[in-house]
Amino acid sequence: MTDAETEAEFVVVANRLPVDLERLPDGTERWKRSPGGLVTALEPMLRSREGAWVGWPGVADAKAKPFVEDGLTLYPVDLSAKDVEEYYEGFSNGTLWPLYHDVVQPPAFHRHWWQAYVRVNQRFAEATAEIAAEGATVWVQDYQLQLMPAALRALRPDLRIGFFLHIPFPPTELFMQLPWRSRIVEGLLGADLVGFHTPGGARNFHWLAQNLASAKEGRGEDELYYHGRTVRLGAFPISIDSKALDALARTPEVQEQAKQIRADLGNPRRVILGVDRLDYTKGIDVRLRAFEELLAEDKAGDTVMIQLATPSRERVEHYQKMRQDIEQAVGRINGTYSRVGHPVLHYLHQSLPRNELAAFFVAADVMLVTPLRDGMNLVAKEYVACRTGETGVLVLSEFAGAAIELQDALLVNPHDTDGVKLALHTALEMPPAEAQKRMRNLRRQVLTHDVDRWARSFLDALGLPPATSPETDD
Ligand code: ADP
Ligand code: G6P
Repeated sequence: MTDAETEAEFVVVANRLPVDLERLPDGTERWKRSPGGLVTALEPMLRSREGAWVGWPGVADAKAKPFVEDGLTLYPVDLSAKDVEEYYEGFSNGTLWPLYHDVVQPPAFHRHWWQAYVRVNQRFAEATAEIAAEGATVWVQDYQLQLMPAALRALRPDLRIGFFLHIPFPPTELFMQLPWRSRIVEGLLGADLVGFHTPGGARNFHWLAQNLASAKEGRGEDELYYHGRTVRLGAFPISIDSKALDALARTPEVQEQAKQIRADLGNPRRVILGVDRLDYTKGIDVRLRAFEELLAEDKAGDTVMIQLATPSRERVEHYQKMRQDIEQAVGRINGTYSRVGHPVLHYLHQSLPRNELAAFFVAADVMLVTPLRDGMNLVAKEYVACRTGETGVLVLSEFAGAAIELQDALLVNPHDTDGVKLALHTALEMPPAEAQKRMRNLRRQVLTHDVDRWARSFLDALGLPPATSPETDD
């Protein structure tokens, strides 16, 4: 790590930096990879462009200085314990997250949380205004920073500003519940380009901008006029670094590790896998119920299920309750159906290194991805990228953004337990030829639509010149 220079031409701003500061019990500190799909998607893209990244280091009062890591300049933004509680855990994850995910849990509306959201968005805007070069391009990410485009434009009208929402943009009826709805829409309208995962999200925003912020319709559904400027809207489905994951999955180390995982499980006929942040939107309970019922009906055969769950937002109430419920279900299922030394269900509340995660994807015959609502869901694409032998079956919720592209998965309605159970059974028993046909099509989609293509299409639309590779730089 070296000291950071100032004046960046291309800046990404996200609530989180790609690394979290971890404070160990002995008082020492170290940086570790941050959780979630946003970081998975953006990190390879930004490293290849040698950009700057403005974000929070994941702990309160970190007081970290800017630093350079692997060609990427990181600018930490400090949050106090109160900011973390009110802006991050409160408004971002107690209000916006459930509201934008179809209200699968009730959102809480608190004025002091909103005030913290305004205050912290302003702080991010000021930090970015200080480091962006004249005429630079700034790409603001996700629901935690929706006020930032307008706040930044007020400080630095010379900048080109893009915004991308990594989670679903809700139906207009749900968005209308938000007491500060107009302010959010006005905040986003500060951008030159606002990107969503799906055309539906863009359409919802198009309607709200006209009805809540008196934006005027532009030359079509993907354009608005607002305060003398054109604001463009679009759907840009995000993806993963597919080729890198494909290559990782092919390495002898990962292949060997996958064999070892199956051997450790007792070489069952089938291995089912779930991989998620431990979040109530992911429908982990849905898939456990379906598996439990198949076991009860004696239809699971010689099958073992693994659920990997990264700890997430552990101080937020809904997350605590959900963790208890899931751990209780795991105990109940194992208590009823396991034999000594042979649990039917393995549950790891841990974050694993990338190569180990790839080995799990390689080891799994069936991948269960059953969110009640999900902006995209990168896990589904990661599984496909790791299936280099064109085997394995993906069961995917139709309410994940990924379902639009991954039509050859077994698509399920996660609210329909019988339907999920049937799909799981079908996946476990699918003839190899059909599984191969489906997986081949899925792989074609995922390998040709990678995260670089996503970033290029957004940045092209924003008008940023293409990235020059480091070799052609000088
Ligand atoms: P979200 O962004 O809501 O967390 P995504 O599926 O889009 O959901 O992205 C989750 C990312 O986190 C993926 O890259 C996935 O591989 C990673 N991940 C999830 N669970 C784990 C785990 N237990 N260990 C390591 N990485 C994980
Ligand atoms: C999702 C969100 C990201 C967030 C990530 C992890 O991917 O879209 O903005 O960073 O989850 O959540 P966390 O609250 O730990 O940052």
